[in-house]
Amino acid sequence: MILITGGAGFIGANFVREWFARGDEGAVVLDKLTYAGNMANLADVRQKPDLHFVHADICDRTAVQQVLAAQRPRAIVHFAAESHVDRSIHGPAQFLQTNFIGTFELLEAAREHWSSLPAGERDAFRFLHVSTDEVYGSLDEADPAFCETTPYAPNSPYAASKAGSDHLVRAWHHTYGLPTLITNCSNNYGPYQFPEKLIPLMILNAIEGKPLPVYGDGRNVRDWLYVTDHCAAIQRVLENGRIGQTYNIGGNCERRNIDVVRAICAALSAQRPKPGGYESQIQFVKDRPGHDRRYAIDAGKLASELGWRPSETFESALAKTVRWYLDHTDWVAGVRDGRYRKWIELNYGDGAPKPA
Ligand code: NAD
Ligand code: TYD
Repeated sequence: MILITGGAGFIGANFVREWFARGDEGAVVLDKLTYAGNMANLADVRQKPDLHFVHADICDRTAVQQVLAAQRPRAIVHFAAESHVDRSIHGPAQFLQTNFIGTFELLEAAREHWSSLPAGERDAFRFLHVSTDEVYGSLDEADPAFCETTPYAPNSPYAASKAGSDHLVRAWHHTYGLPTLITNCSNNYGPYQFPEKLIPLMILNAIEGKPLPVYGDGRNVRDWLYVTDHCAAIQRVLENGRIGQTYNIGGNCERRNIDVVRAICAALSAQRPKPGGYESQIQFVKDRPGHDRRYAIDAGKLASELGWRPSETFESALAKTVRWYLDHTDWVAGVRDGRYRKWIELNYGDGAPKPA
């Protein structure tokens, strides 16, 4: 079986679901269940006899050691992280703790486990670290897309904490020989994404008649990938990636934020028409501090070495995503607890981004 950290979060839960859809190998999910982790994300796979759940923090090395000793996974797929840039601006400490220290503790536990395995199992073991394109910093309009050799230049506390974790993983491979793999992916969207991120926030605000807060001039560009395409890429790298290598994952789908928001409005108008449509709710608000202008991924290495390409198009996958949020009002209500309302107040309410 494999160990999946952060498997109750957005991408992790989609990965767990895809894992069981594609094969019969078991999985252990280890998750702290922060505001972003939710057992409801795993509701439809929870009953699988080969899915085990452990409520633990990756910073707690003893807890991780116990899980590794008991379950003896053949691989670790490491998703657990604090993942939201805006939150990292308001409170960076937890980002350093989980993303950097937590990855360090996990690496040490993994190294001990891996060293204790018999030779054959040791050779087959993998530690796959799931990371982000944000470690490469910001591109200008005419710059070539990020590739695996682009120098690191993180600009937000989130990006810096993920960059630090990538460096730890690299060092644990070079120094100790731990068989690691790193993936750096662009922005994901799809079912179960916590409604603090651009796409679900806009969908829910739109249907609730609230403003659609676009930061700055709305011309920042992100490279969007549907979450199941990301999960398929991770699985491909896990099975066939070369040890010690990094693989960039992206959708070849650059869009300006304002165009994403307009596309959401259009998808909603098609699925839940309302007189006058939704675009009149768009409101330009104060920019995010240090807001990276453009991200774009060159996923050529993953395509040429491992034959992976995204299978979804932005328009159809966005329509599916909008449908999912319209159909899952119970899930939405369940994840929006008091802490969620406090966050919305902090980031968008008094004292936070105001109409520009
Ligand atoms: P998420 O915030 O939705 O989920 C994170 C999960 O990690 C949650 O289940 C949370 O409970 C868990 N977690 C947090 N701290 C933990 C700790 N200390 N110990 C154990 N579990 C902990 O994040 P996501 O969007 O699913 O992202 C998953 C991974 O993918 C992250 O490493 C992120 O950096 C990376 N990534 C995300 C994107 C994206 O667009 N969302 C893009 C590229 C890479
Ligand atoms: P986000 O989903 O937070 O991902 P990231 O910052 O990791 O790329 O934001 C995506 C883009 O959307 C980013 O350029 C910031 C912008 N954005 C808004 O304009 N308004 C919002 O309310 C949010 C959450 C994001």
